[in-house]
Amino acid sequence: MIRVPDLIERKRDGGELSPDELAELMLGYAKGEIPDYQLSAFCMAVYFRGLSSAETYALTDALIRTGETVDLHGALGRKVVDKHSTGGVGDKTSIAVGPIVAACGVPFGKMSGRGLGHTGGTLDKLESIPGFRVELSTDEFIDQVRSVGLAIVGATANLVPADKQLYALRDVTATVDNYSLIAASIMSKKIAGGADAIVLDVKVGDGAFMKSRADAERLAEVMIDLGRRAGREVVAVISAMDEPLGHAVGNALEIREAIATLRGEGPPDFVQLVLEASTQLLALSDLGVARDEARARIEQALADGSALAAYERWIAAQGGNPDEAALPTAPVIREVRAPQAGYVRSLGAVRVGNAALRLGAGRRDKADRIDHAVGVVSLKKRGDAVAPAEALAEVHARDEPSAAAAADEVLAAYEISDEEPQERNVVLDVLSD
Ligand code: URA
Repeated sequence: MIRVPDLIERKRDGGELSPDELAELMLGYAKGEIPDYQLSAFCMAVYFRGLSSAETYALTDALIRTGETVDLHGALGRKVVDKHSTGGVGDKTSIAVGPIVAACGVPFGKMSGRGLGHTGGTLDKLESIPGFRVELSTDEFIDQVRSVGLAIVGATANLVPADKQLYALRDVTATVDNYSLIAASIMSKKIAGGADAIVLDVKVGDGAFMKSRADAERLAEVMIDLGRRAGREVVAVISAMDEPLGHAVGNALEIREAIATLRGEGPPDFVQLVLEASTQLLALSDLGVARDEARARIEQALADGSALAAYERWIAAQGGNPDEAALPTAPVIREVRAPQAGYVRSLGAVRVGNAALRLGAGRRDKADRIDHAVGVVSLKKRGDAVAPAEALAEVHARDEPSAAAAADEVLAAYEISDEEPQERNVVLDVLSD
């Protein structure tokens, strides 16, 4: 039997914990036998002292063992792929990537989360589709990946239950932004979710957890290492999150943009990331194709309509209406106009995310209700030339006062200068084992 104060003290003083000790700690916490105050002190000790790679792996494993795991490979007899983003503004990548990959014949099974604060969540976006069910049982999830080739669902309550408690605790004890804790939290859920190969989209910039490239790469390396130790193949795409991804921020608006992308009409930065993530997923799959062939098949699936057809099959399978016209629309649309001529030098992701949040597109607190129709469409982005009074963005709002407040915030997010900024890719690097 462990004595929790001894473990906290050892970590506080820079010592190392064994896999058995970490397993007992997490199981005891999940069962309610170890109180929040002791776990808070433990997280703070980890925050300052870090975890070795053996400890990070042991913590990941300990988290997984607090709940159920899904054996997608065993159930399907095939390699299943998954994609995960560390979170950003306007990030609807999985909603386009899933159908593309499925249309190319690769099973895609993803358990996803909800948004909090200025970042959105895939489940919230999907719930803007009338009728769409995110809560499938594990058996329904597996059956759908088998029959439709694609499912994106909410994680069941019993998938890594200790992480749910621990993440909420870290959120209120200033211990979220530690590499080992973030990596163990994300990878425990990915490993328990059952995919064989995972593409991680590790975001860097103003709107991301990781503010510098070096930090994002370090986090990516820790997660790749955890995947390798668990027998999963992991590739990390490092991508820019200084400005919102694509044009749309807000749930139904983002679904429309994902559909447009599947029709071949997506915004360039979003398309670049979708193509990269899809290519990596196909290259990791059991199709046995190299990058060039993977890319050619993806472009074919977009051009011949099979990616869009896969989207429609998927949405219908989860009870949703795939018709774009069925998506909710906001009653008020207000344009934000450029105060002067010039080039967009930057568009702050957090500010746009916060404007969308205040309109009702996101939640400040876990219990908040979401308005799926509202949000922001940034018509002009970094590097675009603007004329005086030209429309920079549209605010989609429930009423005039919220539209006016959001329009001010969106305008403040734009920096316009005389000089054209240097072009920059959204995909900054790709790391693998
Ligand atoms: N996302 C997670 O799931 N966990 C973290 O710790 C951070 C981001």
